Order: sequence, then structure tokens, then C-alpha cells
Amino acid sequence: MFIDRNSKVMVLTGAGISAESGLKTFREPGGMWDTYDWRELATPAAFEKSPEKVWEFYMERRRQIRDAQPNEAHKALVRLEKHMNPGRFLLVSQNVDDLHERAGQKNIIKIHGSAMRDICASCGSVLDSADSYNEFPPRHACGGLLRPDVVWFGEPLNSRDLKTAMDWLLSCDYFIVIGTSGNVFPVAQFVYQTEATKIYIGLEEPENSRGFQQVKLGKAGIVLPELIEELCEV
Ligand code: OAD
Repeated sequence: MFIDRNSKVMVLTGAGISAESGLKTFREPGGMWDTYDWRELATPAAFEKSPEKVWEFYMERRRQIRDAQPNEAHKALVRLEKHMNPGRFLLVSQNVDDLHERAGQKNIIKIHGSAMRDICASCGSVLDSADSYNEFPPRHACGGLLRPDVVWFGEPLNSRDLKTAMDWLLSCDYFIVIGTSGNVFPVAQFVYQTEATKIYIGLEEPENSRGFQQVKLGKAGIVLPELIEELCEV
């Protein structure tokens, strides 16, 4: 199978693509939500109750993300983007790490936000993350509490990002999904909202596997570069 440079390719990634960089996934044994209670760490109510506790969790995640490096799967997606003509590739990532960007990915939507940015809970200003803060929990210059710029459970996705994703789902020729368990909505529904050729790569069948024409089981760092070599004939 060869991808014409002028066809449209939409890629969706989840935590599995960063696993080989040493970052934990969420729902596997030993994963983030197997070890920690998301209700205590990833909801607006948790932040209201104990911003210190939520911040400690995200400060540790930031340290882990900073220590991690993009792997062969991240790099393969950059090759795919470069292969496509301008405007014919979109990556939607659920990951709040910055490994796609550090690998050199350009057209990317971070649909669950970024753990590497802060947002003021009061005025909405967005700032690059800091390594340390003068006060804890940190505050913005306006006096409001800062929080990590991630989408927590119970919060809506950014409507502009969602609209862009929907437009691409309706018009893309290929929908390639990597390393996501297909548990979190609305993203888990994307596969049912496109007529594209749909391919999944991951260690195990996702919850929404019946939506895909092809499910390729294996590590993203091995299976994805092989697929992209085949698709791009490079
Ligand atoms: P999950 O932890 O639910 O799923 C990760 C998937 O990656 C699993 O299906 C694994 O089998 C697969 N996997 C693990 N290692 C892999 C590897 N080396 N190569 C390929 N696949 C591998 O993570 P997500 O689906 O990304 O939200 O979770 C979705 C959202 O739930 C996250 O964005 C996060 C979480 O709550 C926020 O942080 C806002």
C-alpha cells in the first residue's frame, strides 16, 4: 500500500506511543491510573480540594517527561508528515507530553492539552511551565491559581480543536491510530466518524477495535516505522 502525497492522512496517538520512551501509560497494569486514583488527581474537584496534591503529581510527571526522549515511533510520524504535501497531514494526540513536538512534528493538535504548560484558573492566561515556583501551589501575576493546561475528566475539549478534528475525520483518506486503549470519549468515537482506511497499531486490541479494517499488534517503535516505510516507499 502506497500513500499518494496528495491524499489526506490523519493520525491519532495515545500514551502507548510514548511507552518506549519510558513514560507510563494509564490503564495497563502498573500504569498511571492503576497506581493513582484519577478522581484525586485529574478532575476540577480534585484541584479545588487539594491543588498542592494535584501539582505534586504533575511536577513529577513534568520531570519524567523532561528526562524522556522521542522514540522511533515519534520519529516515523515526522517522516510521514514530511512525505505528505503541505496541508495533507494532521496529528491529533491525546498525550500531554511534548515528545511529538520535540521529534519535529509540525501540524499537531493536543486534544487533551499539555502538561508542559500552565493556565491561570482565573484569567485563562497560558504560560510555559516552570521547573520551580516561588509559591506553592503557584499563582499567576493576576492573583489566580495556576494549574496544568490539561483537560481533566469532566471537562470539555477545546471546541476549535474538536471542530478541526471532525472536519479532518470527514475528509481524510487514512486514519492511523497508535497506542490508545479506545476508552476515553469523545476521541474513542473518532474511528466511527470517518470513511477513511482505518489502521490501528498497539500492543493489544483497543476497546473500539471493530471500527478498524486493520489491527497491527506490536510495539509502536517497531510496527509503525515498518508501516510508514511501506506507505511512503522510503
Ligand atoms: P491507555 O493507558 O488507556 O492506553 C494505552 C494503550 O497503549 C494500551 O492499549 C496499550 O496496550 C498500548 N501500548 C502500551 N505500550 C505500547 C507500545 N510500546 N506500543 C504500542 N502500544 C502500546 O492510554 P490512552 O488511551 O492514551 O487523559 O488514554 C487516554 C486518556 O486517558 C489520556 O489522554 C489521559 C487518560 O486519562 C488525560 O491525561 C487528560
